[in-house]
Amino acid sequence: MSEKLWDGRFSEKTHHSVEAFTSSIAIDKRLFAHDIAGSVAHCRVLARAGVITDEEASTMIQGLGRIGREIERGRFEFDDSLEDIHMHIESRLVQEVGKVAQKLHTGRSRNDQVALDIRLYLREQTLAVIDALTRWRRVIVGFARTHLETVLPGYTHLQRAQPVLLAHHFMAYYEMFTRDSERFSDCLDRINVMPLGSAALAGTTYPIDRDYAASLLDFPKVSANSMDAVSDRDFVIEFLAAASICMMHFSRLSEELILWSSAEFGFIELADAFATGSSIMPQKKNPDVPELVRGKTGRVVGDLVALLTLMKSLPLTYNRDMQEDKAPLFDAVDTLRSCIDIYGQMLPRITVNQAVMTRAASKGFLNATDMADYLVARGLPFRKAHSVVGQAVGYALGKDRELHELTLAELRTFSEAIDEDLFQALEIEQVINRRKSAGGTSTDNVRSAMDRVEAELGQ
Ligand code: ARG
Repeated sequence: MSEKLWDGRFSEKTHHSVEAFTSSIAIDKRLFAHDIAGSVAHCRVLARAGVITDEEASTMIQGLGRIGREIERGRFEFDDSLEDIHMHIESRLVQEVGKVAQKLHTGRSRNDQVALDIRLYLREQTLAVIDALTRWRRVIVGFARTHLETVLPGYTHLQRAQPVLLAHHFMAYYEMFTRDSERFSDCLDRINVMPLGSAALAGTTYPIDRDYAASLLDFPKVSANSMDAVSDRDFVIEFLAAASICMMHFSRLSEELILWSSAEFGFIELADAFATGSSIMPQKKNPDVPELVRGKTGRVVGDLVALLTLMKSLPLTYNRDMQEDKAPLFDAVDTLRSCIDIYGQMLPRITVNQAVMTRAASKGFLNATDMADYLVARGLPFRKAHSVVGQAVGYALGKDRELHELTLAELRTFSEAIDEDLFQALEIEQVINRRKSAGGTSTDNVRSAMDRVEAELGQ
């Protein structure tokens, strides 16, 4: 068992089951590089304040560099008795450079140290998520581009409503993931705050220059209140909220791909490489990837709820409960990143059954609104037109035909305003291309939406 860095006032050794219970090293060891970066900056800050000499600082900084490489190479031994990554690195530094390392923790506490580490980690991960989302958004536009001519039913209440372009459908997802990316960028403002110098909770007696620490670690801001700085995890919660919303978008897309690949829809087929079989039913090809993404959404939402629940009753300032913040955070980061990655690979390999989609869009009176619009153009008030078309639909249903499959004579029994040119207005291309209102599904609109976002994305 290694000697504790805090056991001066204790007369009994920590029970081994307490060591195992309180240890977080298995989880927080992934913060090692951030912990080392924070300690290197802290050495410089202490030297500049005259608390340690430049020589002492550089001895420690070199030692920290060696420890970082040791951990990277998997040559570092972790041990529950040393609790967490901060204790591991500090006690290893004492072995590495001797007594001088006992000065490292001057003017610092694990409370501001862990807050710093999480911020450094989350800044890096948030930037990586934004990058991954940019790549993913490019994939969406690329996919939409290849489907500017593909028509499918648009749904409300999962009932066929009006025909839309498949490109328009996917550009809707583009908008969602763009908002996600913006949300993650917004998170960066609150992540990017430097807490060192808050020490345990009340600040420190040493004359350290916090702005210097911030500039060394590339933080635009320092925290304004030491008590808040050591007990704030809002930035983690915000990230998890953004992650949950982003996963919710992936989950909605997954739900659609799962439905669309069923025999009942038959709209798409996933590539064999992205589907799996059944151990008993030889005919099966299952959409496990979208299903798992949908399932993993529950995990990420759970991670958000875990953090909110963790924090909701904590008195100021740091409480050990907060050590439980890392597992949900890391889980959400890993889950989100893996979902973005797999979607980027899976989507371009989807086969679209255009004929099935178009057939679905031509059945079920998806042009009924257009017939009403036609009658409005001929002077009927919209409510009246709506009821005329409703009667025509009722009649057509009884004959097992579509509106455009009725004869002119049949149609005219519902309104004298109807002429031969109605049939043109009911054609699917017309139905789509007349929806020119900004943001609507007309081919021109969708093409210019794609041009615009491709320019934004710099393709
Ligand atoms: N392992 C701890 C955590 O992750 C570090 C801070 C511990 N601070 C303390 N006063 N025990 O929260």
